[in-house]
Amino acid sequence: MTSDSPVTRVLANRYSPGGAPSLDNFKVVSAPAPTKDSLKENQVLVRSLYLSVDPYQRGRLTGATNNYIPCYELNKPITTDGVAIVEASTSADISEGDIVSSRIASWETKSVVDVATLRKLPTGTIENARDFVTVFGMPSFTAFVGLTTVGKPKAGETILVSSASGAVGQIVVQLAKACGLRVVGVAGSEDKVEFVKSIGADAAFNYKTCGVFTEAIKQAAPEGIDIYFDNVGGEFLDAALTNINFGARIISCGMISQYNVKSADETYGLKNTFNILTKAAIFQGVRVSRYYGTPTEDEFMAEVGKLYKEGKLQYRIDETTGLENAPQAVLNLYDGKNFGKSVVKV
Ligand SMILES: NC(=O)c1ccc[n+]([C@@H]2O[C@H](COP(=O)([O-])OP(=O)(O)OC[C@H]3O[C@@H](n4cnc5c(N)ncnc54)[C@H](OP(=O)(O)O)[C@@H]3O)[C@@H](O)[C@H]2O)c1
Repeated sequence: MTSDSPVTRVLANRYSPGGAPSLDNFKVVSAPAPTKDSLKENQVLVRSLYLSVDPYQRGRLTGATNNYIPCYELNKPITTDGVAIVEASTSADISEGDIVSSRIASWETKSVVDVATLRKLPTGTIENARDFVTVFGMPSFTAFVGLTTVGKPKAGETILVSSASGAVGQIVVQLAKACGLRVVGVAGSEDKVEFVKSIGADAAFNYKTCGVFTEAIKQAAPEGIDIYFDNVGGEFLDAALTNINFGARIISCGMISQYNVKSADETYGLKNTFNILTKAAIFQGVRVSRYYGTPTEDEFMAEVGKLYKEGKLQYRIDETTGLENAPQAVLNLYDGKNFGKSVVKV
């Protein structure tokens, strides 16, 4: 790409309050490239390298005004976490050639960005820039936060992890194993189940072919569940509740099985919540953004960084090439077509 080639942008095109999203929710457009002459004070011109693709994006395309995170603005670029290289700068703190990350990276091949929204990454990270939206990215941090702040794992306990081959799940499996837990993983295909076992799960099963969820969980964890790391909600969460031990902790991280319901009436109604009372269990939601910039983030980088550097942590990535293909990568999340952390190489 030359400096005056047009840029590609992915815009929010249409809201869908319910049902599965489609390519029509997005619009891929071409536009004149921003130039360094357009930079104001403390701005940079960046070229996007990698952009994160995440399930929460569904909620941002509903058009709801009461979302926990605001909806995307129509005809404005989609945003997620991303990593970019600086091509020009008017800031004293960030220079041409620096690698930067942003939690609100625009889905554009090139953008003009306020430096206040950026974090400069350590020098020499061009080769591993992708790590900052994958193994050290937001979902990995979510896994760490959920497990440490709510899960409070003790060696010898049993943890059940749903969507265990995904961006969050694969880190939960490996961190739990490192804490000495017995790990039971759940995923939606035989390949994913094999992967979950290969990264350390003691047992794993395919929820699409296992039959009755409650029985499948009981078979994989006859000793009962001390921690359930819930990425899916709905019927599987209900089944997990029937298998919890006294003093269990349920980490409510995500409810992907419910993101595409057509209306509120279709939302799965839990039947087994009485077990939370009788088992004196803790059922707590996790919002990773509450931990941004806190000491927990430093602990995460230190702990996960150490395991990764020592080769004790695997991280499977599902990479899509080309920003124009990013909308399909979003859709893939909701029918399990991604295998590992979904990311777009711009
Ligand atoms: N609380 C927070 O701060 C926070 C932060 C990040 C992510 N999350 C949540 O954590 C969960 C996992 O996110 P992720 O980034 O790691 O995604 P992911 O697991 O990498 O990808 C999504 C996966 O969800 C599974 N899935 C899709 N529809 C499903 C359904 N109806 N029932 C069961 N599983 C289904 C699919 O795997 P299978 O093939 O195994 O079905 C799919 O591959 C999501 O619910 C997400 O919203 C929460």
